[in-house]
Amino acid sequence: MPGFADIGAAVIGTGFIGTVHVEQLRRIGVDVRGVLGSTPDRGAARATALSVTRAYESLDEILADPAVQVVHVTSPNHLHVPQASAILAAGKHVVCEKPLAMTAAESRGLAEQAGASGLVNAVNFNIRFYPLHQHVRERVAAGDFGEVRFATGHYFQDWLLHDTDWNWRLEPDKGGALRAVGDIGSHWLDLMAFVTGQPIVSVMADLATFVTSRQQPTGPVETFSTERSANTVTRPMGTEDVATLLLRFASGARGSVAVSQISAGRKNSLQWEIDGSDAAAWWDSETPDHLWLGHRDRPNELLLRNPALMGDAGRAAAALPGGHVEGFGDTFGALFRAIYADVLEGRPRPNPPYADFAAGHDEMLVNDAVATSASEGRWVDVERTGVLTEMTR
Ligand SMILES: NC(=O)c1ccc[n+]([C@@H]2O[C@H](COP(=O)([O-])OP(=O)(O)OC[C@H]3O[C@@H](n4cnc5c(N)ncnc54)[C@H](O)[C@@H]3O)[C@@H](O)[C@H]2O)c1
Repeated sequence: MPGFADIGAAVIGTGFIGTVHVEQLRRIGVDVRGVLGSTPDRGAARATALSVTRAYESLDEILADPAVQVVHVTSPNHLHVPQASAILAAGKHVVCEKPLAMTAAESRGLAEQAGASGLVNAVNFNIRFYPLHQHVRERVAAGDFGEVRFATGHYFQDWLLHDTDWNWRLEPDKGGALRAVGDIGSHWLDLMAFVTGQPIVSVMADLATFVTSRQQPTGPVETFSTERSANTVTRPMGTEDVATLLLRFASGARGSVAVSQISAGRKNSLQWEIDGSDAAAWWDSETPDHLWLGHRDRPNELLLRNPALMGDAGRAAAALPGGHVEGFGDTFGALFRAIYADVLEGRPRPNPPYADFAAGHDEMLVNDAVATSASEGRWVDVERTGVLTEMTR
């Protein structure tokens, strides 16, 4: 019987997250045929460092390689749509990093193309694949928490605190018009819609830019790098350092999330709480194997991730026994196992546990509503017309 080792993959982008893709594909046994960097030299250097046999010189070379059935897109955001679209057009399955596109107008066409292709298409919302997230979603759907009324939380980082911190994400033509929301808020928004099973239907957003100009190094910069360049030029900043969002879900539940990339000491802190009519749940990315369960009339509980104590969905995402903490990198392995199960079948299953392009487009619609709300200072409904999204089908 064919297995993951019979599937060939290629990875576009060899930076922070492209490296994680290569490592985690290998962990589940997929044959990583090669990588594509921003230049042939850089691609070749990274291929050597990662012990990957081939450094492709162009996307066309990947598309022409019959040994590659799946292509992962881990390039900066502005390249996602053209690259993913070309991959689908060449008849190959595609895994694309988040956010799916620069705008919902862009992601709409891509989601339609993916839906019509019959090929596996996935957006890398890996945070869904902490096993406790798969588990809690199942328990919410089973009614353990009663009616979910309130979903709150934050996503804070500090790596863009100083005006000397620089990355392509700060350039709207590469990262998009929304920055903190598009880059990290998108994970939280996708996750809460996934866990609650409820689409976000309306938003009220306040965005603020505190670091109004930054020093751009004249050479390239690695993501999360703390090195300072001596040669810089001053650039004005327009995209948000922080965002405060009020949310309404389709069920009538309310929510709020604070997003920041300038919170000193918070390296990568995502937290959420859902409060239902019967019980509550709370999770913190810094203790990812812990799920707090809140009760009114009996003692609270702390569920330590353990395949023996989770339902089918949580168990499927878990790779290690209880007590052996699974973290950020492991979520990619769990997500890829789910995606590649569909690749083996040659087509996507209905309602996959991973975000498909329809779900990625749905998240882009929420982002667009956030941008409109912030600029117009009012509540804005998420406009779901046309594409059948995960949340509306
Ligand atoms: N899911 C997650 O948790 C997560 C985490 C980090 C980044 N991301 C996403 O991954 C993407 C990349 O982010 P990153 O932090 O790895 O950035 P990065 O700057 O570290 O890496 C980007 C890579 O893309 C390459 N690249 C640039 N132009 C290219 C081109 N034309 N063709 C091929 N490669 C090209 C660069 O050389 C670099 O290797 C972004 O879309 C980001 O939002 C997702």
